[in-house]
Amino acid sequence: MATSPFIIVAIDGGAASGKSTSSKVLADRFNLLHVDTGSFYRAVTAEFLRRGVAATDQPGVRAAAAALKFGTQVRGRSAQMEIDGRVVPDADIRSRTVNDHVSHFAAIPEVRTALLAYQRGLAGVARARGLQGVVMEGRDIGSVIFPDADFRFFLHAHPAERARRRASEGQQDSIVERDRIDSSRKTAPLACPPGATTIDTTHLTPAQVVDTMAAPIAARTATP
Ligand code: DC
Repeated sequence: MATSPFIIVAIDGGAASGKSTSSKVLADRFNLLHVDTGSFYRAVTAEFLRRGVAATDQPGVRAAAAALKFGTQVRGRSAQMEIDGRVVPDADIRSRTVNDHVSHFAAIPEVRTALLAYQRGLAGVARARGLQGVVMEGRDIGSVIFPDADFRFFLHAHPAERARRRASEGQQDSIVERDRIDSSRKTAPLACPPGATTIDTTHLTPAQVVDTMAAPIAARTATP
């Protein structure tokens, strides 16, 4: 039997567009490392706030970003970023305060540079663990992190539906405002990369979103 190739799946889109739910299922179905890069920007933001560094203090951000030491824990098939030897707890990175600040820190080029090599290096982590590839979700995965990804998807949904999804998770999140900042920044803005498959998830169930992405992946791998 032919062995499956190592694959990179890039999934980009705005807040609550359906990226996390679908990429976790794809990771399990195709034995891939699941990487939620939004959680990295959130963890870095929580760390800056903990250290009292403001996004408006660019020299302070630059110095703090350069000093951060990143590591990785793999839990199940999920990559968790360590900062200075510690995974920042989920409750801290999904707080209202982090929701309000994360786009401002993510717009700073030095913050993105600090995370770039780390994110690319996770392909090596997946290989070392014997996984079949990586499914990475974010805003600039198909455009900047892995422009040569084997599969590139861009998810979007109506803002009212996205607000409903966040509320059903019990989260307070200014989705439209975050998307505005993420789309208008100069470095690696949120945008559909050329050649990506666009999926409007507004009226699709999570299973339908997964099936849309899984079909071309299954056709290229040995996994059904
Ligand atoms: O996916 P999320 O909503 O948890 O992401 C939080 C923020 O992180 C998002 O508003 C913008 C930033 N982000 C980014 O700039 N680039 C990525 N690849 C992922 C997230």
